[in-house]
Amino acid sequence: MPAAGIPIGAGNKEYPGNLTPFVTITCVVAAMGGLIFGYDIGISGGVTSMNPFLEKFFPAVYRKKNAQHSKNQYCQYDSETLTLFTSSLYLAALLSSVVASTITRRFGRKLSMLFGGLLFLVGALINGLAQNVAMLIVGRILLGFGIGFANQSVPLYLSEMAPYKYRGALNIGFQLSITIGILVANILNYFFAKIKGGWGWRLSLGGAMVPALIITIGSLILPDTPNSMIERGDRDGAKAQLKRIRGVEDVDEEFNDLVAASETSMQVENPWRNLLQRKYRPQLTMAVLIPFFQQFTGINVIMFYAPVLFNSIGFKDDASLMSAVITGVVNVVATCVSIYGVDKWGRRALFLEGGVQMLICQVAVAVSIAAKFGTSGEPGDLPKWYAIVVVLFICIYVAGFAWSWGPLGWLVPSEIFPLEIRSAAQSVNVSVNMLFTFLVAQIFLTMLCHMKFGLFLFFAFFVVVMTIYIYTMLPETKGIPIEEMDRVWKSHPYWSRFVEHDDNGVEMAKGGVKNV
Ligand code: BGC
Repeated sequence: MPAAGIPIGAGNKEYPGNLTPFVTITCVVAAMGGLIFGYDIGISGGVTSMNPFLEKFFPAVYRKKNAQHSKNQYCQYDSETLTLFTSSLYLAALLSSVVASTITRRFGRKLSMLFGGLLFLVGALINGLAQNVAMLIVGRILLGFGIGFANQSVPLYLSEMAPYKYRGALNIGFQLSITIGILVANILNYFFAKIKGGWGWRLSLGGAMVPALIITIGSLILPDTPNSMIERGDRDGAKAQLKRIRGVEDVDEEFNDLVAASETSMQVENPWRNLLQRKYRPQLTMAVLIPFFQQFTGINVIMFYAPVLFNSIGFKDDASLMSAVITGVVNVVATCVSIYGVDKWGRRALFLEGGVQMLICQVAVAVSIAAKFGTSGEPGDLPKWYAIVVVLFICIYVAGFAWSWGPLGWLVPSEIFPLEIRSAAQSVNVSVNMLFTFLVAQIFLTMLCHMKFGLFLFFAFFVVVMTIYIYTMLPETKGIPIEEMDRVWKSHPYWSRFVEHDDNGVEMAKGGVKNV
């Protein structure tokens, strides 16, 4: 999520302004962009475990899944086209977020949101009406383009609209709306799967039109951000807008800083080359490693494929979808814990605790699946206690993610980039995230087939690595104003060697959020 969670001017200045009803409603509407992203994450797993859907589009998978003689639970879903269906969206999102960054900068955030909403709408329609695999994948690519546009513009919009004191909470608010989207999708899948005639999957996929319509209409009625208006030359309009959203007349200081930020960012000719300078090595490293690690927690194995996974380890179809609903609820509730605790306990404490919690659960799940199926994957009757234990551990794992790597994977990068590299660094962060989301989605079913229960140990290994990395390499950023963020690197045993020891970064950073 670009540039949210950043207290502009905090520390040495206080901009007047309130959390006005106007800005609250505006931000709630804009945050619906997260809802759509979440809906997409949640819907595909449930749909790909529905028999009528499989029978129509992936008959080979359907036969394998239901064959009397199919003995290998781990491999029943292994299919290239089935994975392509899920993962094509993320590749499309990766590509379009690059294009969207130019549109967002030149024509404003609202236009990108509008494009996002419209592409979603068409993608959902095509998917709901799909007659063949090609239609399915084309629809999904359009949804992916929509996500690229929305994820580029919505968080930026939120961070520019929010008063700085509430920017952190709003940042995780976007993640919260992602988790609500996932949950809604899981609940709908559960009910739509029961529809007689087997066409419920059409409602699941076509249902994405509802959040798409909300964001499309929202983008038409939402006001422009002052930052975007300044960037496009309308300073008078921007000042009037700032007064309106802050609910006070005295906005000069913030306004002047926004103008200064815009001028500074325009002076940087090549933000990409800038980013490669030695002094930005800590930020560049974090912009790559944090999203990489976030995806290698293995969370999307659960988010995309929970019903498929539960089905693979012996749950009946209905119980699989229900279990996905349960993990969805845990995801939402645990994200709220993070909103509550992130500025109290700090980022490192959440990262470390979440890491240990995820690790224990991954090992426990691996052991229980191994005990049940061994390496042959032969199914048997599933005792109730066993099912409960597996779901319980998966829930504790999801909770660990939802208050650590979930929100912090977006929050921490956004608060450590100084103004002059924020645009480029944030693009790196988003692209790396989408790339590894794509990769995990693409290889998961094959990995489950070949690595069996070892898949959970594979991700557990990465959780160990990332937890050690956070412990040794990530300084605490809680309560540190962005202008002073460079001091965390200067006092770090390793990163200090890359950072210059003069203090000119303070001047550079004081303008506020740069337009990405
Ligand atoms: C991640 C997504 C994930 C979601 C789960 C987000 O922070 O970027 O990949 O599916 O959290 O809640």
